[in-house]
Amino acid sequence: MAEIKCIGILTSGGDAPGMNAAIRAVTRAGICSGFSVKGIYRGYRGLITDEIVDFKTQNVSNIIQTGGTILKTARCKEFTTPEGRQLAYDVLKREGIDALVVIGGDGSLTGARIFANEFNFPIVGLPGTIDNDLYGTDKTIGYDTALNTIMQCVDKIRDTATSHERLFFIEVMGRDAGFLALNGAIASGAEAAIIPEISTEVDQLAELVKNGFRKSKNSSIVLVAESPITGGAMGLAERVKNEFPQYDVRVTILGHLQRGGSPTAVDRILASRMGAAAIDALLEDQRNVMIGITNDEIVYVPFSKAIKNDKPINRDLLNTLRRLSI
Ligand code: F6P
Repeated sequence: MAEIKCIGILTSGGDAPGMNAAIRAVTRAGICSGFSVKGIYRGYRGLITDEIVDFKTQNVSNIIQTGGTILKTARCKEFTTPEGRQLAYDVLKREGIDALVVIGGDGSLTGARIFANEFNFPIVGLPGTIDNDLYGTDKTIGYDTALNTIMQCVDKIRDTATSHERLFFIEVMGRDAGFLALNGAIASGAEAAIIPEISTEVDQLAELVKNGFRKSKNSSIVLVAESPITGGAMGLAERVKNEFPQYDVRVTILGHLQRGGSPTAVDRILASRMGAAAIDALLEDQRNVMIGITNDEIVYVPFSKAIKNDKPINRDLLNTLRRLSI
């Protein structure tokens, strides 16, 4: 293996709270191990257009507590083409970057995997997404903060839902994964969660109505994962309005506020451990792996597994939610 002297870091795809803590950890652990470090702005787009600066330890001062990403982020179409990736490779050579740490979700790690194979280039990935939908790690960076944000928002909505005795459908992010909806529902004492993992098996709304989800309650809150498979909060509310006009229904879509805010201690620690582990992985000649943490242990997950394997939802949680919402 060629010797690694200089490491580039980038953040890509949707931002997630804790990305800055991860940038800080990669930079400082990298410098501690004798590497030089470069920050690549605007994800793969900045790699193609050469928006790259030297990173010293001061570049990452005072950022552990901040949301977003100081490196900015983007979703880059050009990098999905061989021509775009060739341009990116030329920039890496010109900048003297010998390895990359990519912080992002499944789209970003898919790009990393293709690039690493195409150019035999060392890349280590960090799972940075609020969706928690990467296989091989118990939690992704940003998930815990987003979950706490959802919980705080639902607490507020509950006040008005209770006062007006209304049924609320609250839509949360997660793309095609129900982790935020399901755990958000448990954390906020919601009556139900409607998630894509189950939508293909049962009509969850029909089940809820059949089980009399408002039997003992004057108000109810249902968390809905944003996926088209669930019908979304708007779609479900329309159905209820048509089929049960007696219910006073309202919809709240939490949207991008779930992606912002100061990271929780859980996310800061996760990002710090994972960032330092990315440097260890490169020192150990690991290639094309995502850093995960399972059962509190650092693990190296091949990109192919992290991206391709569907991360299963814990079905016991659905049962817990049902039992506690009577
Ligand atoms: O992947 C993170 C995520 O926040 C998803 O939950 C959501 O579907 C998507 O990004 C939204 O992306 P954008 O910010 O590009 O609209």
